[in-house]
Amino acid sequence: MSVQADLLLDWYDRHRRVLPWRAEAGARPDPYRVWLSEIMLQQTTVAAVAPYFRAFLHRWPRIADLAAAPRDDVLHAWQGLGYYARARNLHACAQAVAADHGGRFPDTAAALRRLPGIGAYTGAAIAAIAFGEQILALEANGERVFARLFGIETPLPAAKPEIAAMAEGLVPAARPGDFAQAVMDLGATVCTVKRPSCPRCPWQDSCVAAARGIAESLPRKAPKGEKPLRRGVAFWLRRGDGAVLLRRRPDKGLLGGMMEVPSTPWREAPWSMAEALFHAPLPASWQPRLGLVRHGFTHFDLELTLLAGRVAGDGAAATGEWASLDRLGDHALPTCMRKVVAHALDEGLPLAAPIG
Ligand code: ADE
Ligand code: SF4
Repeated sequence: MSVQADLLLDWYDRHRRVLPWRAEAGARPDPYRVWLSEIMLQQTTVAAVAPYFRAFLHRWPRIADLAAAPRDDVLHAWQGLGYYARARNLHACAQAVAADHGGRFPDTAAALRRLPGIGAYTGAAIAAIAFGEQILALEANGERVFARLFGIETPLPAAKPEIAAMAEGLVPAARPGDFAQAVMDLGATVCTVKRPSCPRCPWQDSCVAAARGIAESLPRKAPKGEKPLRRGVAFWLRRGDGAVLLRRRPDKGLLGGMMEVPSTPWREAPWSMAEALFHAPLPASWQPRLGLVRHGFTHFDLELTLLAGRVAGDGAAATGEWASLDRLGDHALPTCMRKVVAHALDEGLPLAAPIG
């Protein structure tokens, strides 16, 4: 084992964080818990994940329970963690493991990557942590730590292969999962984005960035372009009994399978009233509402304006589901649609001048 791996594992034995999905020191972790935590932790913090992890485990103690759950229950329980594609893949993965693998996760990174929602990092992390495969599981925290340790000045994301090639040589045959988690803990508690605490670091003596005094400036990042802005017009349609029209998004793609307030497609060019009405769920006397709903997605920002309408009778001509306002919480509505609802219900807002 390399000196660095030895030093890091020693440090981990003394300073490892206690996390709800971690096994006791020396004990073999449960692959279901490892997988569930890794999926939840993608792009989210440990603090945000912990209560969701406990709730999922309480409700679905084994992978077979999760596989058998209705998908809407899983999406609903996921609400607040963001990125619903992950929740859909989580459910699909549980079903694949239950149906095709006899309820047991495959035990190599290569086989794990063939399951829904498991990419290179997650496959490697599960294989290392749950099955002891000697493989590097590199995520953003690890990239930062290794870029500093090796003094790699190439900007991210171009630096990734270089960082991975150098870090691979450090992964020990014994305890590769502890090594992976130790790197994560080091990145979270010592080798932090701002003001790393090098004097507390087990790698201080061999760290290139610390020696050069440039730790905080690594990893360098290529300047990133502005996110594009997309626009849409949402249709807030109420019927006689006060229910509001929702519809389900297609399974594939952004927010797939979630409920939404019907809207035009989302595009960069602004919408004229006439263009927007072409996408309305029903002919009605549509009234523009003042103000905008803004939401940031990973790859674009969204601005929605709102048209409010009323329909007499039971609204049977509209495609979608009528939902009573006091039961909206029962629907798997993503955050951006909750903002639309909040905006639509803000009765203090006057009507805007007609658009277009
Ligand atoms: N981030 C992603 N996976 C993690 C893990 N297993 N422990 C701590 N932080 C993590
Ligand atoms: Fe990070 Fe400092 Fe440790 Fe280097 S010595 S790995 S910069 S905390």
